[in-house]
Amino acid sequence: MSDIIISLDKVKKVYFLDAVEVEALKDISLDIHAGDFVSIAGPSGSGKTTILNLIGCVDKPTSGTVVVGGKRTSDLDDDSLTELRHKSIGFIFQTFNLIPVLNIRENVELPLLLDNQSAGSQSKIESKADRKEWVDFLIESVGLKDRMLHKPAELSGGQRQRVAIARALVMKPAIVLADEPTANLDSATGESILRLMRHMNETFGTTFIFSTHDPDIVEEADHIIRLKDGRIIEDRRRNGASAALLAANLETAEATGTEGGQL
Ligand SMILES: Nc1ncnc2c1ncn2[C@@H]1O[C@H](COP(=O)(O)OP(=O)(O)OP(=O)(O)O)[C@@H](O)[C@H]1O
Ligand SMILES: [Mg+2]
Repeated sequence: MSDIIISLDKVKKVYFLDAVEVEALKDISLDIHAGDFVSIAGPSGSGKTTILNLIGCVDKPTSGTVVVGGKRTSDLDDDSLTELRHKSIGFIFQTFNLIPVLNIRENVELPLLLDNQSAGSQSKIESKADRKEWVDFLIESVGLKDRMLHKPAELSGGQRQRVAIARALVMKPAIVLADEPTANLDSATGESILRLMRHMNETFGTTFIFSTHDPDIVEEADHIIRLKDGRIIEDRRRNGASAALLAANLETAEATGTEGGQL
């Protein structure tokens, strides 16, 4: 079995909003292996973004432990968290988050340029020629070779999300997190984005974790984690390698009509 790259143990996350406590995550324990292709499913408000933020070192748990790449995030100070995020994690957002004034090549290259300017550069791609070769290769891999010099506004939604995928991979991260990457796309385009993420997962061995509402997209993952009200009601691997419907949450699953081994 491959190595565990992400592990959450008894994680709770409480938000305080106008003196009201919101328990966004109640008792989350899960393991993700290196090279996994994972979907996090569940209705609005179930805690998907909160989990991605904890894994992405954007936020820390209220209690419990989050271990990313062997490091317990609650033990790290802000600088170390930023470094872990920068070195190991690529992000893809629902709204693409491209920079409008930069063309496609510049958008994809930007993390590398910022990295080269910082002390302790992580990418090890320092020469301009190597950088260009890698950026061009990624843009070609996402099928946008003929759009390199276009601005994001000149692309379709699906094409913009392809650029965001290339940008997420430019630092060669071990992990890519995508929060509802297909939500703003029609279903055929969403399907093609999913195939592209799968292709990148297989080509680079990158661990992909994406959240989604779409049942068809959920089913394409190898490892499916289903949330409801801040709890895991299902955690299974499609190939059956370590299929597990968590006994502790079985009751919740039954109450919501979700059966073990099925979505
Ligand atoms: N910054 C915050 N302050 C207060 N409450 C929050 C905050 N962020 C999220 N929540 C609450 O935590 C719960 C989980 O939110 P989260 O954003 O993780 O859900 P989600 O599954 O991503 O939903 P969606 O599908 O709508 O994106 C919700 O009840 C939400 O209102
Ligand atoms: Mg969300």
